[in-house]
Amino acid sequence: MKNLRIIIVDTDDLTRKAIHTHLSGFAGVEIIGEAKDTVTGHRMIRQNRPDVVLVEVGGLDDSGMKLAAEVHREMPQVAVFVTSSHKNPDLILKAMSSGAREFLLRPIEIHVLTQAIEKVLKDPSRAGGGVRRGRVLTFFSNKGGVGTTTLATNTAAGLVMEGASAVGLVDMDLQLGNVASFLNLTPTYTVFDLASQLDKVNASTVESFLTKHATGISVLAEPRTPAEAEAITPSQAASALDLLRSAYEYVVVDTPKGFDERTLDILDLSDEIFVVSELSLPALRNLKKCLDVFRDLQYSKTRVRVLINRHDPRGGIRLADIEQNLRFDAFWSFPNDFFRIMNGINTGSPVVASSEESEIARSIRQFCRKVAGREAEAVAAGEGAPRGGYLKRLFGKRQED
Ligand SMILES: Nc1ncnc2c1ncn2[C@@H]1O[C@H](COP(=O)(O)OP(=O)(O)OP(=O)(O)O)[C@@H](O)[C@H]1O
Ligand SMILES: [Mg+2]
Repeated sequence: MKNLRIIIVDTDDLTRKAIHTHLSGFAGVEIIGEAKDTVTGHRMIRQNRPDVVLVEVGGLDDSGMKLAAEVHREMPQVAVFVTSSHKNPDLILKAMSSGAREFLLRPIEIHVLTQAIEKVLKDPSRAGGGVRRGRVLTFFSNKGGVGTTTLATNTAAGLVMEGASAVGLVDMDLQLGNVASFLNLTPTYTVFDLASQLDKVNASTVESFLTKHATGISVLAEPRTPAEAEAITPSQAASALDLLRSAYEYVVVDTPKGFDERTLDILDLSDEIFVVSELSLPALRNLKKCLDVFRDLQYSKTRVRVLINRHDPRGGIRLADIEQNLRFDAFWSFPNDFFRIMNGINTGSPVVASSEESEIARSIRQFCRKVAGREAEAVAAGEGAPRGGYLKRLFGKRQED
């Protein structure tokens, strides 16, 4: 059985150290991250999906309690233990009703913590690896029109053609999404319907919100109206993806251009981020900004993959020069084939399936093989995350270059 992975969110250095020291002695238990504040802790939890979170509550503000509730709502399979110096019955009730599995009084007694951890270790739902955890592959660009939706759609279809058992394609370009129209689908339900019923849906029922396409992919379409799109909170979008990852082997996500709070949260929880660009000056300028932001956010290089779309070696800009200049290695380059891609969009059948023998389709298939063949690389435990709200995360001082 896999190790029990734990994250500690606690303002007190000594408490974190004491918990760490005690739990390090446990066989089958691994502390994968520690955070001093709840914003960093939340990002760490989203990125690493631990089995147990220990969070301090009842301090100067109620951010710990809010974190406990949000983690429980977004990732119900995570066991949340709250720790507090206050024995106040209201606080205990509040913690339990926000989904905490244990309330541990501080200073935490070793035998109480041991019992709580042993309970999770013995939980029968952990046998056989616990809940399925599909990979979230997010396609993103901070420049419009470079082929993000085309590549997301074709990758989803290509992964099915390469033998993936279940692939979900989610349109998180909530205002202007066009995945359903690229695939000529008339969806019954949308992201909005799922987001507004998250408390009633589980891994076995979530599939009913998606619409099946002839290629075998299941599509969760963009909301019907801008008002519905606006109503979806970042936390609901993240929870919806987490739920989908328990039902699908791959969850391929199309995103709007640019960094809004919802998109940042989606990027945070993605296993891999495919940044799409072209070899044109405006696109490359934006790519540079985008890679700078990801460096600021301390995303590891193994998660951020640059895709060059519409690559034509005759274009005048040499990919090798750009790679050296912007300090990245392109993960894949897709050839330019406007006619076949447009034809695929107009017939609702992605080029990877509709023109299987073409160079562009073969390139997409090879890319999918590379994506599918890679072992999921665990995001480095405790990968330090910048603090503060999303604007601060974006515009705060760069910490490394
Ligand atoms: N490899 C390619 N070769 C030729 N044309 C392409 C290629 N990839 C995408 N296109 C074309 O580029 C246009 C934009 O594609 P797409 O809508 O996928 O981009 P996008 O980045 O999602 O745009 P938006 O900002 O509107 O979301 C489409 O007309 C599509 O046919
Ligand atoms: Mg798009």
